[in-house]
Amino acid sequence: MNTWLKNALYRIEADYQRSSDTHLVRVALPQAREVSLYLKDESTHPTGSLKHRLARSLFLYGICDGNIGEGTTIVESSSGNTAVSEAYFAQLLGLPFIAVVPDGTSQEKVDKIGFYGGKCHFVPGSQIYAEAERLARELGGHYMDQFTYAERATDWRGNNNIAESIFEQMRFEPSPVPSWIVVNAGTGGTSSTIGRFIRYKSYATSLCVADPDNSVFFDYYQSRNAALTLDRGSNVEGIGRPRVEPSFNCDLVDRMIKVPDAATYATLRFLEQVLGRRCGGSTGTNVYAALRLVAELKRAGEPASVVSMICDGGERYLDTYYNDAWLEDHGFDLQPYAEQLDAFFEKGEWNELSGDEPGYDPCLEISASDLPIRATRTSVDRT
Ligand SMILES: Cc1ncc(COP(=O)(O)O)c(C=O)c1O
Repeated sequence: MNTWLKNALYRIEADYQRSSDTHLVRVALPQAREVSLYLKDESTHPTGSLKHRLARSLFLYGICDGNIGEGTTIVESSSGNTAVSEAYFAQLLGLPFIAVVPDGTSQEKVDKIGFYGGKCHFVPGSQIYAEAERLARELGGHYMDQFTYAERATDWRGNNNIAESIFEQMRFEPSPVPSWIVVNAGTGGTSSTIGRFIRYKSYATSLCVADPDNSVFFDYYQSRNAALTLDRGSNVEGIGRPRVEPSFNCDLVDRMIKVPDAATYATLRFLEQVLGRRCGGSTGTNVYAALRLVAELKRAGEPASVVSMICDGGERYLDTYYNDAWLEDHGFDLQPYAEQLDAFFEKGEWNELSGDEPGYDPCLEISASDLPIRATRTSVDRT
């Protein structure tokens, strides 16, 4: 084995040993005591998001496959968080790193990439993949391609992956096997890892994926049409995609919930009151869907639990989701959702909003059992 490779693996392992596991936070919902909600706090990784796990996996995968070696320039297409985490690992290994990011990526993320020694290359959102591939080819570097490799680079059967960690941390809770785990999808890597682990261990847990506006995943789940595209990206950084990504395996998903953006942002305000802290946008999408499921389980009257995730912290989004002027400029009215969430917190009542109310978009849901066909996923392999 060459010395560089051996040292690189050693350094990544040493970094892992210096890090600790992320917390599982219990959310106090006084009017829904019989159903507990927990959030896996992925913001506490050294680089501040769930993408820290993915970046480590992608580096290990690239090194072991022989695609990353001494001096290799690492190139990635990313809306920010993956690039921050990959810049961290590139710096750890002394490798140059270039992130191909969409125009409009938050300054906080750009600064973080720079903090870890990475460089940003800005292009219109739809061009990030082709440009990253071109750049890597031109520089003789390696294109990490998280959207293709997220699901296969991650250890889905265990090795303290996110799923194993959740079930381990739930062991002493009143309902240790959650009825639902609720995640969202950017690459789809997190949902694929959790979905496979649930099946592998035969847990009686269902997987729900929450999808924001301006994303194809929900429609793909329904139609299985892998050619679906949109002209624009989502308003929730990190999640929702204008094309179907190869790492999103919809056959592992039991239900999808389409969460309107205004509901996502209202949930961030709600979480600020309930947790006393600010979370990133995609956490709002997750938690709104998770609260709907808590309300559904509460109506069923059995003790149960639901687990979801804090994907990153809110400090990266102070100029956007936490800025009233930004919300107003973009036409988001949080009021109907804020009232819905407050009523649930204070009285335990989940009032479905009617589609006629101003500022309200219906929250669509679809379950695997409602689908006419199963297991006919069209292949989305762009390798
Ligand atoms: C803040 C945030 N939340 C959620 C996700 C989605 O995770 P995954 O790529 O595993 O689907 C991402 C991905 O970049 C993200 O940055």
